[in-house]
Amino acid sequence: MANSFKQIRGLLVIVCVVCVGITFVNGQNQNEARNKKAEEKKKDEEFICPEEQGNGNFADPATCRRFYQCVDGYPYLNRCPSGLYFDDISKFCTFKDEARCGPILTTPAPVTEPPADLAEKCNPAECALPYCFCSKDGTIIPGGLDAEDVPQMILLTFDGAVNLNNYHYYKKVFNGNKNPNGCDIKGTFYVAHEYSNYHMIQELASKSHEIATETISLQTGLQDKGYEEWVGEMIGMREILRHFSNISRSEVVGMRAPFLKPGRNTQYKVLEDFGYIYDSSIGVPPKAVPIWPYTLDYKLPHECKAGTCPTKSFPGVWEVPLNAHYVEDFEGGHCPYLDQCVLHNHDSEEVFEWLHEDFSRHYEQNKAPYMMSFHTNWFSIKDLEEGLHKFLQWTQTLPDVWFVTTTQALMWITDPKPLKELNNFEAWNCKKKENLPPPPCNNPNKCALSFKPETANHTDTRYLETCIECPNKYPWLGDAEGSGIPGRDNYVPENVRK
Ligand SMILES: *[C@@H]1O[C@H](CO)[C@@H](O)[C@H](O)[C@H]1NC(C)=O
Ligand SMILES: *[C@@H]1O[C@H](CO)[C@@H](O)[C@H](O)[C@H]1NC(C)=O
Repeated sequence: MANSFKQIRGLLVIVCVVCVGITFVNGQNQNEARNKKAEEKKKDEEFICPEEQGNGNFADPATCRRFYQCVDGYPYLNRCPSGLYFDDISKFCTFKDEARCGPILTTPAPVTEPPADLAEKCNPAECALPYCFCSKDGTIIPGGLDAEDVPQMILLTFDGAVNLNNYHYYKKVFNGNKNPNGCDIKGTFYVAHEYSNYHMIQELASKSHEIATETISLQTGLQDKGYEEWVGEMIGMREILRHFSNISRSEVVGMRAPFLKPGRNTQYKVLEDFGYIYDSSIGVPPKAVPIWPYTLDYKLPHECKAGTCPTKSFPGVWEVPLNAHYVEDFEGGHCPYLDQCVLHNHDSEEVFEWLHEDFSRHYEQNKAPYMMSFHTNWFSIKDLEEGLHKFLQWTQTLPDVWFVTTTQALMWITDPKPLKELNNFEAWNCKKKENLPPPPCNNPNKCALSFKPETANHTDTRYLETCIECPNKYPWLGDAEGSGIPGRDNYVPENVRK
């Protein structure tokens, strides 16, 4: 599988869906919050973290405006930003009409996998690069290098739709920032379909950002669905990108499950069958030393935060996990996506300091890749955006920090090279890979398309921009090209297609 690393890709885009979530806070609210603090502290102590569910966010039974963040059994009370409510399904603060107030009883998912052929514990003696990588606690540097010889990789990742709401923010992140070899920095976009602009996505791809797939519909509960459903969502998304952004299939090799709910063994079977190289959906609880990416030959080297991780062995399939972001006193909580930490009451300098401390846990220890995962939300708050730009500027002064796509990171991991050889490391040079799409047209078609999700009774309109002709219907599950014939698509695994 490492052979398929011949090319790298690039680009990104994206954004989020649910994420309309955490937004806007104002000064008045902060004062109000402060006044109530003493009072809340009391209630705080009465909330008991559900032991069996581990760390995470939990609805406040008293009000939908607040939630508790449980860290090692201790509840930290958090208040949603002004006007927003806690959604106990997605675990975000969001608009009132979208928030499903908790506490919602969760029934444990049925165990459908037979206990047979479970993955075994890492055996370093039988696991060698470039095809296999593991270590007992997941923190060991690949290739046996010393931390001082290792580049600190930063993975900028953006989830969800890419469109006018976020595109200018994303472009600004990449604008003018360089890697130590003088090339422009790159990121990875886990694209979801609805509301995406395929003209913008083609531009990102043509500039060597990596485009990977989230899903077409961002349906909740996908982690409990079957093979066909995952193929429809994931491979359908890849077909939409090929058709409307001219991104070839071989360039789309990464997957992120919506809401970081991996699809148990099913999702990984689909990855394997359809030629993907990696998944990046598994959240890691807060750890003193962060985890390096690993292959799924063996058992995960950490607790599965989502509870729906694969249990079988998938040899050679890479997992690029999301280490929890946090600072020492857990101020702001801990989060896989940066916009899920509660930093909206910080000014840009405090945001910078927070990121700095979080980053240092990687940079000053084992240099595990530092993934900065965002939804659009982050950029809707000025102080957060400015704090990020301060952080980016500061990293420009560090000689060993590289902003790379997820695939570029894996190319280093499968073939680890010390810092002094990196200026000639081919996978990280400035040359555009042959397989990437050309820059998009200047005047994309702006298509207004009828859209009728299966569950709705009425027809809606969705807009889509692309350099090719407008389709008949809004592309959707089973009809990636928007032919208007529902269920037309039939995706065949690559190992069968040959
Ligand atoms: C798609 O990309 C290929 C190169 O990968 C290019 O030759 C072709 O013209 C592009 N098609 C469109 C419609 O832009
Ligand atoms: C759609 O129509 C059916 C029957 O007319 C009705 O039972 C159902 O509630 C409607 N669904 C929605 C989402 O309006």
